Amino acid sequence: MEFTDVVKARHSYRGFLPKAVDQQTLQDVFELANWAPSNCNIQPWHVHVVSGDACNRLREKMKAAAQHQPGGNPDFPWQGKFSGDYRERQICSAVGLWEYQGVTRDDREKRAWSWMRNFEFFDAPHIAFIFITDEFPETVRLAGDTGMYAQTLMLALRDRGIGSCPQTSVSCYPDLVRDELGVETHFKLLMGLPFGYIDPSDKANDFRTDRAALDKNTIFHN
Ligand SMILES: Cc1cc2nc3c(=O)[nH]c(=O)nc-3n(C[C@H](O)[C@H](O)[C@H](O)COP(=O)(O)O)c2cc1C
Repeated sequence: MEFTDVVKARHSYRGFLPKAVDQQTLQDVFELANWAPSNCNIQPWHVHVVSGDACNRLREKMKAAAQHQPGGNPDFPWQGKFSGDYRERQICSAVGLWEYQGVTRDDREKRAWSWMRNFEFFDAPHIAFIFITDEFPETVRLAGDTGMYAQTLMLALRDRGIGSCPQTSVSCYPDLVRDELGVETHFKLLMGLPFGYIDPSDKANDFRTDRAALDKNTIFHN
Protein backbone atom coordinates (compact mmCIF):
# COMPACT_ATOMS: atom_id res chain seq x y z
CA MET A 1 0.00 0.00 0.00
CA GLU A 2 1.02 3.63 -0.48
CA PHE A 3 2.06 5.27 2.80
CA THR A 4 -0.93 7.66 2.94
CA ASP A 5 -3.32 4.77 2.26
CA VAL A 6 -1.85 2.66 5.07
CA VAL A 7 -2.15 5.55 7.53
CA LYS A 8 -5.78 6.12 6.55
CA ALA A 9 -6.64 2.40 6.53
CA ARG A 10 -5.42 1.90 10.08
CA HIS A 11 -8.36 2.10 12.41
CA SER A 12 -9.00 0.33 15.67
CA TYR A 13 -10.49 -3.00 14.59
CA ARG A 14 -12.60 -4.82 17.16
CA GLY A 15 -13.61 -8.04 15.48
CA PHE A 16 -11.29 -10.69 14.01
CA LEU A 17 -11.45 -13.92 12.06
CA PRO A 18 -10.03 -17.04 13.79
CA LYS A 19 -7.39 -17.43 11.04
CA ALA A 20 -3.85 -17.20 12.46
CA VAL A 21 -1.17 -14.97 10.92
CA ASP A 22 1.71 -17.14 9.69
CA GLN A 23 5.04 -17.07 11.54
CA GLN A 24 7.03 -15.49 8.69
CA THR A 25 4.59 -12.55 8.51
CA LEU A 26 4.80 -12.18 12.30
CA GLN A 27 8.59 -12.08 12.10
CA ASP A 28 8.46 -9.51 9.27
CA VAL A 29 6.06 -7.06 10.94
CA PHE A 30 7.69 -7.18 14.36
CA GLU A 31 11.12 -6.77 12.78
CA LEU A 32 9.88 -3.75 10.80
CA ALA A 33 8.29 -2.17 13.90
CA ASN A 34 11.67 -2.33 15.64
CA TRP A 35 12.81 0.45 13.26
CA ALA A 36 10.75 2.97 15.23
CA PRO A 37 12.84 5.82 16.69
CA SER A 38 13.51 6.23 20.40
CA ASN A 39 15.39 8.60 22.72
CA CYS A 40 19.12 7.79 22.29
CA ASN A 41 18.02 4.68 20.38
CA ILE A 42 17.41 2.85 23.65
CA GLN A 43 14.49 0.88 22.10
CA PRO A 44 12.69 0.51 25.44
CA TRP A 45 9.80 -1.68 24.24
CA HIS A 46 9.65 -5.29 25.41
CA VAL A 47 7.05 -7.22 23.52
CA HIS A 48 5.41 -10.59 24.13
CA VAL A 49 3.38 -11.93 21.20
CA VAL A 50 0.83 -14.46 22.35
CA SER A 51 -0.95 -16.85 19.97
CA GLY A 52 -2.79 -20.18 19.89
CA ASP A 53 -3.50 -21.98 23.18
CA ALA A 54 -1.48 -19.44 25.17
CA CYS A 55 -3.66 -16.64 23.79
CA ASN A 56 -6.89 -18.52 24.58
CA ARG A 57 -5.69 -19.31 28.09
CA LEU A 58 -4.89 -15.67 28.78
CA ARG A 59 -8.21 -14.58 27.26
CA GLU A 60 -10.13 -16.82 29.69
CA LYS A 61 -8.09 -15.62 32.68
CA MET A 62 -8.44 -11.98 31.62
CA LYS A 63 -12.22 -12.31 31.27
CA ALA A 64 -12.48 -13.86 34.75
CA ALA A 65 -10.27 -11.12 36.22
CA ALA A 66 -12.31 -8.36 34.59
CA GLN A 67 -15.51 -9.86 36.00
CA HIS A 68 -14.22 -10.36 39.54
CA GLN A 69 -11.82 -7.46 39.92
CA PRO A 70 -13.21 -4.48 37.96
CA GLY A 71 -10.55 -1.80 37.47
CA GLY A 72 -7.75 -4.25 38.21
CA ASN A 73 -4.35 -3.09 39.40
CA PRO A 74 -2.66 -1.28 36.47
CA ASP A 75 1.06 -0.47 36.58
CA PHE A 76 0.24 3.00 35.21
CA PRO A 77 -2.82 4.65 36.75
CA TRP A 78 -5.79 5.30 34.46
CA GLN A 79 -8.59 7.62 35.54
CA GLY A 80 -9.96 8.57 32.11
CA LYS A 81 -11.44 11.79 33.54
CA PHE A 82 -11.17 14.34 30.75
CA SER A 83 -12.85 17.72 30.30
CA GLY A 84 -13.54 20.24 27.53
CA ASP A 85 -12.65 19.19 23.97
CA TYR A 86 -10.94 16.05 25.30
CA ARG A 87 -14.13 14.95 27.07
CA GLU A 88 -16.21 15.62 23.97
CA ARG A 89 -13.88 13.48 21.84
CA GLN A 90 -13.87 10.75 24.50
CA ILE A 91 -17.68 10.63 24.50
CA CYS A 92 -17.88 10.69 20.69
CA SER A 93 -15.55 7.71 20.40
CA ALA A 94 -17.44 5.66 23.02
CA VAL A 95 -20.96 6.50 21.82
CA GLY A 96 -19.93 6.07 18.18
CA LEU A 97 -18.59 2.59 18.87
CA TRP A 98 -21.70 1.63 20.85
CA GLU A 99 -23.88 2.68 17.93
CA TYR A 100 -22.06 0.22 15.67
CA GLN A 101 -22.16 -2.47 18.36
CA GLY A 102 -25.92 -1.99 18.81
CA VAL A 103 -25.51 -0.58 22.33
CA THR A 104 -27.61 2.30 23.67
CA ARG A 105 -26.26 4.62 26.35
CA ASP A 106 -28.94 3.63 28.91
CA ASP A 107 -28.52 -0.13 28.39
CA ARG A 108 -26.14 -1.07 31.22
CA GLU A 109 -26.02 -4.73 30.28
CA LYS A 110 -24.97 -4.10 26.69
CA ARG A 111 -22.49 -1.46 27.83
CA ALA A 112 -20.92 -4.04 30.13
CA TRP A 113 -20.83 -6.48 27.19
CA SER A 114 -19.06 -3.86 25.04
CA TRP A 115 -16.46 -3.31 27.79
CA MET A 116 -15.96 -7.08 28.22
CA ARG A 117 -15.16 -7.39 24.50
CA ASN A 118 -11.80 -5.83 25.46
CA PHE A 119 -10.96 -8.76 27.70
CA GLU A 120 -12.01 -11.24 25.03
CA PHE A 121 -9.36 -9.48 22.90
CA PHE A 122 -12.21 -8.94 20.41
CA ASP A 123 -11.74 -12.65 19.46
CA ALA A 124 -8.29 -11.94 18.00
CA PRO A 125 -6.08 -15.01 17.43
CA HIS A 126 -3.04 -13.01 18.63
CA ILE A 127 -2.27 -10.32 21.16
CA ALA A 128 0.98 -8.42 21.72
CA PHE A 129 1.67 -7.20 25.26
CA ILE A 130 3.99 -4.21 25.28
CA PHE A 131 6.04 -3.54 28.43
CA ILE A 132 8.57 -0.91 29.50
CA THR A 133 11.06 -1.24 32.32
CA ASP A 134 10.72 0.80 35.53
CA GLU A 135 14.50 0.81 36.14
CA PHE A 136 14.88 4.47 35.05
CA PRO A 137 13.00 7.65 35.94
CA GLU A 138 12.29 8.53 32.29
CA THR A 139 8.98 6.67 32.22
CA VAL A 140 7.07 9.30 30.24
CA ARG A 141 9.73 9.42 27.54
CA LEU A 142 9.96 5.63 27.40
CA ALA A 143 6.19 5.56 26.95
CA GLY A 144 6.53 8.13 24.14
CA ASP A 145 9.12 5.94 22.40
CA THR A 146 6.90 2.93 22.84
CA GLY A 147 3.93 4.76 21.31
CA MET A 148 6.05 5.31 18.20
CA TYR A 149 6.84 1.62 18.18
CA ALA A 150 3.16 0.70 18.55
CA GLN A 151 2.07 2.94 15.67
CA THR A 152 4.82 1.57 13.43
CA LEU A 153 3.68 -1.94 14.33
CA MET A 154 0.01 -1.16 13.61
CA LEU A 155 0.92 0.32 10.21
CA ALA A 156 3.15 -2.65 9.35
CA LEU A 157 0.28 -4.99 10.25
CA ARG A 158 -2.30 -3.01 8.29
CA ASP A 159 -0.03 -2.89 5.24
CA ARG A 160 -0.34 -6.70 5.20
CA GLY A 161 -4.13 -6.66 5.57
CA ILE A 162 -4.04 -7.27 9.33
CA GLY A 163 -6.11 -5.19 11.76
CA SER A 164 -5.33 -4.35 15.37
CA CYS A 165 -6.62 -2.34 18.34
CA PRO A 166 -4.33 -0.71 20.91
CA GLN A 167 -5.68 -1.37 24.41
CA THR A 168 -5.15 0.29 27.75
CA SER A 169 -7.99 -1.81 29.19
CA VAL A 170 -6.03 -5.08 29.26
CA SER A 171 -3.12 -3.32 30.97
CA CYS A 172 -5.33 -3.21 34.10
CA TYR A 173 -4.27 -6.81 34.82
CA PRO A 174 -0.47 -6.73 34.56
CA ASP A 175 0.21 -9.33 37.28
CA LEU A 176 -1.89 -11.88 35.47
CA VAL A 177 -0.02 -11.27 32.19
CA ARG A 178 3.40 -11.34 33.89
CA ASP A 179 2.57 -14.58 35.74
CA GLU A 180 1.21 -16.31 32.65
CA LEU A 181 4.13 -15.27 30.41
CA GLY A 182 6.93 -15.43 32.99
CA VAL A 183 7.77 -11.73 32.75
CA GLU A 184 9.99 -10.12 35.43
CA THR A 185 8.23 -7.62 37.72
CA HIS A 186 10.33 -4.61 36.68
CA PHE A 187 8.65 -4.79 33.27
CA LYS A 188 5.50 -2.71 33.48
CA LEU A 189 2.59 -3.29 31.13
CA LEU A 190 1.81 -0.25 28.99
CA MET A 191 -0.70 -1.71 26.54
CA GLY A 192 -2.06 -4.73 24.75
CA LEU A 193 -2.51 -5.00 21.00
CA PRO A 194 -4.84 -7.74 19.78
CA PHE A 195 -4.46 -8.31 16.05
CA GLY A 196 -5.55 -10.56 13.24
CA TYR A 197 -7.45 -10.65 9.97
CA ILE A 198 -10.41 -8.29 10.07
CA ASP A 199 -13.88 -9.83 10.39
CA PRO A 200 -15.97 -7.99 7.76
CA SER A 201 -19.22 -9.20 9.34
CA ASP A 202 -18.50 -7.46 12.67
CA LYS A 203 -20.23 -4.07 12.48
CA ALA A 204 -17.82 -2.63 15.09
CA ASN A 205 -15.21 -2.65 12.33
CA ASP A 206 -17.26 -0.17 10.28
CA PHE A 207 -17.01 2.50 12.99
CA ARG A 208 -14.79 5.44 12.07
CA THR A 209 -13.59 8.19 14.38
CA ASP A 210 -12.89 11.68 13.07
CA ARG A 211 -10.12 14.16 13.84
CA ALA A 212 -9.95 17.79 14.92
CA ALA A 213 -9.22 20.41 12.26
CA LEU A 214 -5.49 21.03 11.81
CA ASP A 215 -5.63 24.52 13.34
CA LYS A 216 -6.96 23.04 16.62
CA ASN A 217 -3.61 21.40 17.43
CA THR A 218 -0.97 22.63 14.97
CA ILE A 219 0.46 26.12 14.63
CA PHE A 220 2.85 27.03 11.83
CA HIS A 221 5.44 29.73 12.62
CA ASN A 222 7.67 31.62 10.19
C1 LIG B 1 -2.82 3.80 23.94
C2 LIG B 1 -4.21 3.49 23.46
C3 LIG B 1 -5.05 2.74 24.25
C4 LIG B 1 -6.33 2.40 23.80
N1 LIG B 1 -7.13 1.58 24.58
C5 LIG B 1 -8.29 1.10 24.06
C6 LIG B 1 -9.03 0.11 24.76
O1 LIG B 1 -8.67 -0.32 25.85
N2 LIG B 1 -10.16 -0.36 24.19
C7 LIG B 1 -10.60 0.08 22.95
O2 LIG B 1 -11.64 -0.42 22.48
N3 LIG B 1 -9.91 1.03 22.28
C8 LIG B 1 -8.78 1.53 22.78
N4 LIG B 1 -8.02 2.43 22.07
C9 LIG B 1 -8.47 2.83 20.73
C10 LIG B 1 -8.96 4.29 20.67
O3 LIG B 1 -10.25 4.35 21.16
C11 LIG B 1 -8.88 4.73 19.20
O4 LIG B 1 -7.53 4.72 18.79
C12 LIG B 1 -9.42 6.14 18.99
O5 LIG B 1 -10.80 6.18 19.29
C13 LIG B 1 -9.21 6.58 17.54
O6 LIG B 1 -9.84 5.67 16.65
P1 LIG B 1 -9.02 4.87 15.55
O7 LIG B 1 -7.94 4.09 16.23
O8 LIG B 1 -10.05 3.96 14.91
O9 LIG B 1 -8.44 5.86 14.59
C14 LIG B 1 -6.78 2.85 22.52
C15 LIG B 1 -5.92 3.63 21.75
C16 LIG B 1 -4.65 3.95 22.20
C17 LIG B 1 -3.74 4.75 21.30
